[in-house]
Amino acid sequence: MPAGGFSVAAPPGTDFEAKITPIVVISCIMAATGGLMFGYDVGVSGGVTSMDDFLIKFFPTVYRKKNEKGLESNYCKYDNQGLQLFTSSLYLAGLTATFFASYTTRRLGRRLTMLIAGIFFIVGVIFNGAAQDLAMLIIGRILLGCGVGFANQAVPLFLSEIAPTRIRGGLNILFQLNVTIGILFANLVNYGTAKIHPWGWRLSLSLAGIPAVLLTAGALFVVDTPNSLIERGRLEEGRAVLRKIRGTDNIEPEFNEILEASRIAQQVKHPFRNLLKRRNIPQLTIAILLQIFQQFTGINAIMFYAPVLFNTLGFKSDASLYSAVITGAVNVLSTIVSIYSVDRVGRRMLLLEAGVQMFLSQVVISVVLGIKVTDHSDDLSHGYAVFVVVMVCTFVSAFAWSWGPLGWLIPSETFPLETRSAGQSITVCVNLLFTFVIAQAFLSMLCHLKYGIFAFFSGWVLVMSVFVIFLLPETKNVPIEEMTERVWKQHWFWKRFMDDDDDDEKNNEIYGAKELAP
Ligand code: BGC
Repeated sequence: MPAGGFSVAAPPGTDFEAKITPIVVISCIMAATGGLMFGYDVGVSGGVTSMDDFLIKFFPTVYRKKNEKGLESNYCKYDNQGLQLFTSSLYLAGLTATFFASYTTRRLGRRLTMLIAGIFFIVGVIFNGAAQDLAMLIIGRILLGCGVGFANQAVPLFLSEIAPTRIRGGLNILFQLNVTIGILFANLVNYGTAKIHPWGWRLSLSLAGIPAVLLTAGALFVVDTPNSLIERGRLEEGRAVLRKIRGTDNIEPEFNEILEASRIAQQVKHPFRNLLKRRNIPQLTIAILLQIFQQFTGINAIMFYAPVLFNTLGFKSDASLYSAVITGAVNVLSTIVSIYSVDRVGRRMLLLEAGVQMFLSQVVISVVLGIKVTDHSDDLSHGYAVFVVVMVCTFVSAFAWSWGPLGWLIPSETFPLETRSAGQSITVCVNLLFTFVIAQAFLSMLCHLKYGIFAFFSGWVLVMSVFVIFLLPETKNVPIEEMTERVWKQHWFWKRFMDDDDDDEKNNEIYGAKELAP
């Protein structure tokens, strides 16, 4: 989400008659714009902050530090709270907005929430593109962040409800793929606009307007999901929409299921309190830890600050932006590997293989920088520079086929129906919170820990891999409604949370014969 994850509303295996209608295709395009928008915001800030024109206008002290050779440690050139706030404010606003978004998706519907997101995005882009001072810049980022909060809640939900069951899983990772394409697009734009003086950065920030306008236009044209209409008591409209999007008149079985699911969902009076019940602790713990771990891989140190980082290592401006394009492209391609392999080799295998790859590449980067980049000389030779970029790519590729998509996929497939939407909000929130922490702290950490920053992240990779070995069960090919029996009740540790009679009763009530019977 980020990126955002997906709530899969119907159990897999239950396939209703459904054609891939134009509306479903438009929905996929919406996924593209929601994901692209988020990715573009992630990728654009690093390139812009490495551009001299931008620094002279908004951060003259950073510009001076960057160019006064020998005075400031190389590692501290960009250590500036304001500069970090430019990147991080978006995530802080995003996580605050998620709370409101969870209300509007329920009460106003998915479509209106996406429209709200689109409008926030457009106004945010205008503020950023036209910024005259730091305040305008930060206000713009905050507005974009509100857009992210609303979009990351509504778009995934909208998609999972509008798509036929058989393509829901694929759409989940497709959203992540679009995030990575958005990041790459931003890297490419930055590479081009850095050559336009003195307003190239304005073009970079303004081009975010393209996905923003597309998302807004999309939200104006599409219909709301049947689930949302039915949830709000507009049954006949919901029925008509379902007929239209499925391209068939045979929609009664699905209509009844949505009706039943919505009746059950309305019985759960306090979804967030429900999350804290004993039987939900395993899923909740795993969802929260996955988000923290995902961010502590250090991925966003690269995604946000790659150009700045490469610049710190002595790369010329052009080479820094160029290298960021390379890591961005590796990110996209490796996400495709994940789409292909996640249901074949399984989640645990991907996470563990990636753990080894990420650990080794970070240790190597740390050692090379430790030896070659000292406080006051950045004589990284061409050969070493290429080697560092290759190692960064090795790290990014491992992330992109593991923690990137799986950090979102696993929570969306482990929460039971009764807590799925609340679980989703918590997942998005915790993710944005830790994304904020990394965005705000990385450049200062780089200044203080120097090359040790990569050793720091590799330590975390070790911790999360041990967590995967002992505490993360495999969920490959397990239908959602069988998670409790086949996964949690079988797990050496988590099974102790599943032994409550009261819970069994509750499960029967929630997964009543009618709704989830095969
Ligand atoms: C993460 C983002 C990250 C992106 C990189 C996502 O899964 O949540 O924080 O920037 O992957 O591709």
